[in-house]
Amino acid sequence: MSGVARRTVVAAAGGAGLAAAITACGGGGTNDKGTAAEGETLARTADIPVGGGKILADKGVVITQPKAGEFKAFSSKCTHAGCAVSSIKDGVIVCPCHQSHFDVSDGSVKSGPAGSPLPPTPIQVVGDAISLG
Ligand code: FES
Repeated sequence: MSGVARRTVVAAAGGAGLAAAITACGGGGTNDKGTAAEGETLARTADIPVGGGKILADKGVVITQPKAGEFKAFSSKCTHAGCAVSSIKDGVIVCPCHQSHFDVSDGSVKSGPAGSPLPPTPIQVVGDAISLG
C-alpha cells in the first residue's frame, strides 16, 4: 500500500468516527435506546386525560393522570415479555400481546401474565409541560 493510500484510509476512518460521535450526541429527542432524554418535554398536562393517560410509544413512556393534577409516568415496555403497551382504558394500561393490565395510578399489575409492575419513570411538571425529571 502506498503512503497516499494509507493516509486516505485513515482519513476516511476518522470521518466515520466523527459521524458516529455526532450521531450519538446530536439526537436531542431520544437516546440510543429509543427512550426520551432527561429534560425533554414529553407532553402537555392538557393532553393527559384524568383517570387515564397517554402512551408515547416513540419515547417508551406512558404518562397517566390518576387524579386531577396528579401525574405519573411508567415505562411502556411490558414486564411480561417486553411488548409495548398499546392502550389505556377504564383506569388500566393494556398490553396487547397477552393482555396484562396495569393500574394507571402506580403501574401495578391488575391482571397477568405480567408478574411485576411497569417501572416508574421520573417526571417533573412545570407549568403545563411534563418532562423527564
Ligand atoms: S408481553 Fe405484555 S402481556 Fe405478555
